This record gives sequence, structure tokens and C-alpha cells, in this order.
Amino acid sequence: MATIDYDVTPGGALQGSLRVPGDKSISHRSVILSALAQGESRISGLLEGEDVLGTVAAFRALGVAIDGPDKGHLRVQGVGLHGLQAPRAPLDFGNSGTAMRLMAGLLCAQPFSSELIGDQSLMSRPMARVALPLQRMGAQIDTAGGGRPPLAIRGGARLTGIRYEMPVASAQVKSAILLAGLYAQGETTVVEPAPSRDHTERMLAGFGYPVERMGRAVTVRGGAGPLRAGTLEVPADLSSAAFFLVAGSIVPGSRLVLARVGINPTRTGVIDILRAMGARIDVQRETIVNGEPVADLLVEASTLRGVAVDPALVPLAIDEFPILFVAAACAEGTTVVRGARELRVKESDRLAVMAQGLTALGIRVEEFEDGLAITGGPLRGGVVDSGGDHRIAMAFAVAAHRAQGPVRVRDCRNVATSFPGFDGLARAVGMHIRVSGS
Ligand code: S3P
Repeated sequence: MATIDYDVTPGGALQGSLRVPGDKSISHRSVILSALAQGESRISGLLEGEDVLGTVAAFRALGVAIDGPDKGHLRVQGVGLHGLQAPRAPLDFGNSGTAMRLMAGLLCAQPFSSELIGDQSLMSRPMARVALPLQRMGAQIDTAGGGRPPLAIRGGARLTGIRYEMPVASAQVKSAILLAGLYAQGETTVVEPAPSRDHTERMLAGFGYPVERMGRAVTVRGGAGPLRAGTLEVPADLSSAAFFLVAGSIVPGSRLVLARVGINPTRTGVIDILRAMGARIDVQRETIVNGEPVADLLVEASTLRGVAVDPALVPLAIDEFPILFVAAACAEGTTVVRGARELRVKESDRLAVMAQGLTALGIRVEEFEDGLAITGGPLRGGVVDSGGDHRIAMAFAVAAHRAQGPVRVRDCRNVATSFPGFDGLARAVGMHIRVSGS
């Protein structure tokens, strides 16, 4: 498939007020739960990125009538928990691990069979982490060798609730099990080793489905009632805002306001880590929207210093490490991140790809099995590869703005999976990004 590169020339202070696209995690869940609800749901602020569009397409293939998206608005005619229909072809989730894992939980409880596939990156990602607990519930799921996709799900399994102690903190695994738990006999409890994003729990409760939370345990009871359709507003994605939080911090003289960003406490590790590094980030006009805290974020340039990141913050900032590594490259001293082995099984091996790219730009990086140590210093121009990873592409675009010469970031097509329009917004606040085909 044709891809694109970013050609970025360094520049000066970044200024402006911007709204980044809707939260990816909340967008997926709003489509899934609206489809399972009774009645029409209206969603606004939906992320129109490829990952979420894939979830919308999957529900259409499962017989759900959906209008849109149109400027972030989506209308979903929910079919109820038992109204999905057999798809005629394999369901293709593109680049999205979230969609494949959450949908595995939902589809293993249906009376029909299905097959789940994805792009080259997704087809190499670990799925045993969802298949094993779902099999323990009685699901009939086959993976390919090494626990990789495709997932072949045989319909008609009768599920029974389990108590599952997750070996790694994963919101995708937790959510898959909870979705299966809606259909299981008795109670399904997931116990997390550390908190992971809790949007599924909040949204289920918002749709009127009882969810019990006790410390690190979340419980649902199968058949505890219908989901009730409603109106949902998706906040802006903190994971997308993070690129501008770092850009605003590392470029002298910058001042950026990011409007109506979701600041769920299971997601705000990036703010905590940046503040520990000396960033000036102010949280303003905080409100609650559909059970999720939302605020405007003001960031002003500051001098960052290296820190040892508390491993407890890793799951709370799991998607923000590519851009946090750029912050580290621009900080005084060394930043050490450990306990982050999960970064090796994201859209790319984020530890390896970031280490390689930062090294190519002249930064001293030590790679561990579970993290990186990065010593800040001058970034030089050059060519880096994103490894087909949307967040790495955007992270290097931000780094390039502070480099001593032009930077070409290769293979940036997948930015469209989570942040359509990134280059335009970046230009609007003062970055010099040119997009070219290759
Ligand atoms: C997500 C959970 C995280 C995160 C991903 C989105 C979600 O994955 O990296 O981008 O929406 O549940 P893990 O659950 O694998 O940590």
C-alpha cells in the first residue's frame, strides 16, 4: 500500500488554541455499547480515524444500522444484546488491537461464528491474552500459531462467569472479559495488577448496566438487564493532545491551549510524568461529560529535566511513551523508563523503533528489555522510520521541530488510524510539516 512521509523543518514558538480529535478508546466503546443498546444512540465528537471507522464497519456487517459519521456525529440503531447477525465475511480490524480484542469478547458470546483479521501489524500481535481467559469462560476461539490472529470464533458457546487475575494491566483484556461477562452465567470478575483505563466500566454504568468495583476488581453479572440507548459526547483524546503537550513544553516561547480533553485519572500519567520533568501544564475548566472528566489544558514552554519514571505510572501513560521519549531527548540529564515491556507489543515494538530513531537523530539511548534510558542533547536532522506506527510518526514530527536540520519521518500513513488531520493542526500552531507520497 502507498505510504506517506513527513518532511519537517525546524521552527520557533508554537502558539494557539486547538481541539484534537475524539478519544479513540471512548469512541470504540461508544460504538460497541450503542450497537448493543435498545433504541437509538447519538454520539458526538466521535474520532473519525481508521481504527474507529473499522469498528463502525464491523457493526454494519453484524446487521446494525448506523448513520454517519458526519463531522463526528454518529447515529446508531441499537439491536439489543441479542440482536447481532452473522457477518458474511471475516471482520477486518485494520491496525486496531483495541477493536480486535474487545470484539473477541463480544463475538465469542454470540450464537454465530466469526473470523477476525487485521493488517500486517495487527496480525503479528498477541491474542492469547484474550483468548485464554475467554476460553476459560467456555468460549470456542482458535488463534493461529503463537497466539496470533486470525481469531476463529465458533458461535453458540455457553459462557460461565470466571474470576480472572490479569497477569498484565490491560484495559483491552479487561474489557473483552467484561463484554463476554454480559452474556455469561453468573458473575465475571476481573482483577487488575495495576489500574488500567476504566472507560468500559464507566460507560457500561452510563448505559444503565450494573458494574461493581472493589479496589482492583471489577464485576458484572450476566443478563443483568438491557443497555439503554442515549446521547454521548466523546472528549478530545489526551493521547493525541500529548503530542502538543510535549511540543508546547520543549519549544521555547510556546503557549498552547487544548480544548475539552478527557482527563480520566487512569489516563493522566503523561501529565504527571511531564510535570515531574518540570513541564508547566495547567488544567482548567474541569467538568464531567458522560461520566468522564474533561478539561482544557494550557501548556507553556519550560526547561525539562530527566527523571526516573515511577513504574506505577506506566499503565497510566501507556500510549504516550513515544512522545515522552522525545520529551526526554529534549530534557537536561537522563530519563529512565523501566517496567514498560508492554511497549514491545503495541502497533510496533515501540522501545526498539524509538531507540533506533532517536539514535539516528544523535541522542544517547540505552535499550533495556523493559524500557529505555535517554540522555537529553541536541537533536540533529536526518531520516527516521516510524515502523508504521502512528504515534511514533507524530512523536518524531514533534522532535523534528526542535532539531538542528530537516528531518524526514518515513511511513506516516497510519497517523490516520488515530489522528486524522494531525499535520494540518500542527501547521496551524506553527510547525512546518510537508506530507509527501513515497
Ligand atoms: C486501549 C488499551 C491500551 C492502549 C490502547 C487502547 C483501550 O492497550 O494501549 O491504545 O482502548 O482499551 P492495552 O490494554 O493492551 O494496554
